[in-house]
This record gives sequence, C-alpha cells and structure tokens, in this order.
Amino acid sequence: MFSIFIVLLNKEMHHYTKTSLSNLPKIFRLNLINSCTGFKSANLIGSKSQKGISNVAIFSSVTHLGSNPSMLGFIIRPTTVPRNTYDNIKKTGVFTVNHINSSQIKDAHQTSAKYETDISEFDKTNFEEEYIEDFFAPFVKDSKIKLGCKFVNEYHIKENDTILIVASIESLFVAEELIQEDGWLNLDKASTVAINGLDGYAKPSLLDRFKYARPNQETQSFFENGS
Ligand SMILES: Cc1cc2nc3c(=O)[nH]c(=O)nc-3n(C[C@H](O)[C@H](O)[C@H](O)COP(=O)(O)O)c2cc1C
Repeated sequence: MFSIFIVLLNKEMHHYTKTSLSNLPKIFRLNLINSCTGFKSANLIGSKSQKGISNVAIFSSVTHLGSNPSMLGFIIRPTTVPRNTYDNIKKTGVFTVNHINSSQIKDAHQTSAKYETDISEFDKTNFEEEYIEDFFAPFVKDSKIKLGCKFVNEYHIKENDTILIVASIESLFVAEELIQEDGWLNLDKASTVAINGLDGYAKPSLLDRFKYARPNQETQSFFENGS
C-alpha cells in the first residue's frame, strides 16, 4: 500500500536531469535554478566610489559566514560587464548591507537596473542615503536592520567565474523593537522580505522557534510554558 503511494507521488513530480537542464530554454532554466534552492535573503548593498558617487543595488546572495568573528559573504556575478558595487568595494574597502522590507520591493528591484557608473540609484528610487558617524559607505535610511562591513578577502570561483566576497561586520544597527532578550531578531516584525527566484518577493511569517536540539529529546518550542 505504502509503495503504491510512493509510485503515485513520483508520477506527479517532474524529473529534470543534468542533461535535460542544460537543454532547457535559457530563461526557463534561469528561473528554475534560481528558485529551486529555496528562499534567499533580500538586501541592498550600499557603496560609494572614490569620486563620491553613491551606489545601491539588490543582492540575494548575502549569507552568514560566522558569528565570532562576525562575518558575512556574498556572490558577485562575472565581472565581464561593469560591476559598480564590486569596483567600489575593491577601491574603498567598505560597504553596507540593508534589509529590504515589504513596502520597498518595487524600488529595491529597480536598483538591479544597469545604470551608468556616474548615476546613483539613490537618485532613481525613493531610497535615501544615510551616513553614520565616519563610515564611508551609505546606509539605506529606512532599513530597520543595517550593517557596516569591511572587505576582508575575495575568492574567485573558477567554475562559473563568480566571486565570493568575504567581509567583517564592523557595525550593526537594529531597530530596538526587533531585538529579543537573547539577541534573536524578529525579522517578521521588521517586515523583512525574502526572494523567490530572481524576481519574486515574499514576506515570510514566523511559525515557531525551537530550543537547542539534543539527541533523543523532544524538540521544544521557545514559546511553550510561557517562556
Ligand atoms: C532579486 C535580485 C537578486 C540579485 N542578486 C545578485 C547577487 O547576489 N549577486 C550579483 O552579482 N548580482 C545580483 N543581482 C543583480 C544586481 O542587482 C545588478 O547586477 C545590479 O545592477 C548591480 O549593480 P552595480 O553594478 O551597481 O553593482 C540581483 C538582482 C536581483 C533582481
């Protein structure tokens, strides 16, 4: 009975093989592969050129690398075309990472347009640049979570000519109401969005939060017993 169910279930699933993937039309494959690894983080990276031209662009590859020291990474697409964010970071050594919330998604998407180097996306959207203390790169004013980062290293991924940027978190600004007693940030409350594929924006809502998992012990919710 169980095995029949498995067979029926599999019939509903489309199987793409490595070969069939490579034969798909380009845009279909791009959408499919960008979606199949799940929701991605949605951030605006702020930077500024040595000439003083500010830049802000959306990135879905920003990811946690470690908390002590506090580090993050993100992927830069092949530099076969001008990449202002990459150039600015290489020349100035700093950039900011700013969460995108649900009211900002249209403008956030617009920052992916290929503007000339001497044009600031801050002038083409409603995003306002904000300078905090003496940090050279611009933060996005209305973001509820923003990080000031310093370039540490880059790794060329030769298999597809992309670059992994590794950076240290030098400053972290968080709206007070989002910070829980144990340091956990309630991103749901911040209306931080997630990215589905390359052009879909979603608003995740928190289902539960669990205590540290131990072998053979029942998984326990943080919110049980009034905690
Ligand atoms: C949803 C979304 C996610 C993106 N994520 C990345 C990314 O992780 N890495 C990247 O190099 N480009 C990414 N891009 C493309 C950049 O936003 C785009 O190339 C932008 O023009 C870069 O600006 P710049 O030349 O000012 O750096 C993404 C675009 C969109 C729409």
